[in-house]
Amino acid sequence: MPNKARPRREWSSKSLIKVLWIPHSAMRPAEGDTSDCILVVGVSRPKLVAAFLSIALVSLFLTFHILYDSAVYSIDAAAVSIIDIEDDNKNNIEMDSTRLRDMSSSSLSLSSSLLSVNELNGFNGKLHFSRTNRHLPQAIIIGVRKCGTRALLEMLFLHPQIQKAAGEVHFFDRDENYEKGLEWYRKKMPYSLNGQITIEKSPSYFVTPEVPERIHAMNASVKLLLIVREPVTRAISDYTQLRTRAVTPSTASSSGMSTTMATVTTIEEESPQRPSQQQQSGRTFEELVLHPNGTINESYRPITISLYHNYMYRWLEVFSRDQILIVNGDQLIEDPVPQLKRIETFLHLEPRIGRHNFYFNHTKGFYCLRNDTADKCLRESKGRRHPRVSPLVVAKLRKFFNEHNQRFYELVGEDLGWPEE
Ligand SMILES: *[C@@H]1O[C@H](CO)[C@@H](O)[C@H](O)[C@H]1NC(C)=O
Ligand SMILES: *[C@@H]1O[C@H](CO)[C@@H](O)[C@H](O)[C@H]1NC(C)=O
Ligand SMILES: *[C@@H]1O[C@H](CO)[C@@H](O)[C@H](O)[C@H]1NC(C)=O
Ligand SMILES: *[C@@H]1O[C@H](CO)[C@@H](O)[C@H](O)[C@H]1NC(C)=O
Ligand SMILES: *[C@@H]1O[C@H](CO)[C@@H](O)[C@H](O)[C@H]1NC(C)=O
Repeated sequence: MPNKARPRREWSSKSLIKVLWIPHSAMRPAEGDTSDCILVVGVSRPKLVAAFLSIALVSLFLTFHILYDSAVYSIDAAAVSIIDIEDDNKNNIEMDSTRLRDMSSSSLSLSSSLLSVNELNGFNGKLHFSRTNRHLPQAIIIGVRKCGTRALLEMLFLHPQIQKAAGEVHFFDRDENYEKGLEWYRKKMPYSLNGQITIEKSPSYFVTPEVPERIHAMNASVKLLLIVREPVTRAISDYTQLRTRAVTPSTASSSGMSTTMATVTTIEEESPQRPSQQQQSGRTFEELVLHPNGTINESYRPITISLYHNYMYRWLEVFSRDQILIVNGDQLIEDPVPQLKRIETFLHLEPRIGRHNFYFNHTKGFYCLRNDTADKCLRESKGRRHPRVSPLVVAKLRKFFNEHNQRFYELVGEDLGWPEE
């Protein structure tokens, strides 16, 4: 077939195909076969081949991208629906769009493309970013109850690099939760971006003997925040809450876990570990705190928990002192910003929380929080209105705690200056 051979030579003379010219001559004996024609046609149009190859590559890439996106999306959606059923607190799993948009401003394309995915799927209000995940907490507020753990967490949440777990998780203090394992715990955490710090608070961690070892086993370099108040104030506040719960047991039973956005202003701290059945709602603080002979009943739970050094030493056996920051709860309420600056330093965060985040509400008598989008006041009144406790009993308690406070100061190497008043 000479007519076929000539155009072949023509093409080959156009440089590029020269390499293929050699195998062609080797194929000559089989000239009658059409297969060499196909071979020649295929390779002799390099531009066509290049175009075809790039189209193939592009479509492969696009297919993979779409598959990947939808896979990520469906994983997230599945996770959401599972947790929706498990968790009565839906706030837990809702991503705050403004907060995330703020955080991911550096990777704008990422957030906008994912936003469109979410909008397409009609998941308004719940945003799932493929670069976000639930992380085990890098910092934990371990207590003490009635010292402002909720206020502390809400104030820290003003920082754009902080994500908080909703409610109290009670992973390390309740055996039935701890047995579910770290993966269960991680799923209780909010979505966070890389670089954000996840924080949870469960005030009874501080007083539960097993907790320090368990937290250490999760992350030996975790950071711990301990917020304390003057112990007599704390004990009275504890009594007040216990009494309130005794009076309204139905609202008390649901504990802090079912806080909705609507009721979040009335911040409840957890119920005590053993909701004391012996808490006769009629008995006054004085009756409960004193033995009939007038000495202090150290077995009365609000007193026991205020003996901070009895718990603190266990933490210091497991963690180094510089992993634990002691926050003065009385000062946090009086003047939040200096305390929060200390915490930002402790957590290696950029200083972002400032005076602009707070305004004083004279009706309430304390600071309310303010971020870019909302205002939030933490409690209905200055705590619950504390009962009037006999000044004699207060003086007796102050005297009693004096020695214990000194022991606490020695343990932590810090003088908290109690009593304040
Ligand atoms: C501002 O505070 C509100 C109420 O706590 C919260 O729902 C919202 O996510 C916060 N916004 C940002 C940007 O952090
Ligand atoms: C452990 O905690 C430290 C301090 O917050 C943190 O930097 C580190 O990433 C944590 N490790 C893990 C595995 O979460
Ligand atoms: C007072 O009473 C308590 C309990 O009834 C008892 O343990 C304590 O020793 C008594 N103290 C004095 C000084 O009598
Ligand atoms: C001391 O307090 C405990 C716990 O509330 C209570 O069971 C006990 O009866 C109290 N003791 C006295 C002597 O009041
Ligand atoms: C201050 O507190 C009062 C009483 O709770 C409340 O009604 C009012 O809305 C608050 N004002 C501001 C500006 O938050």
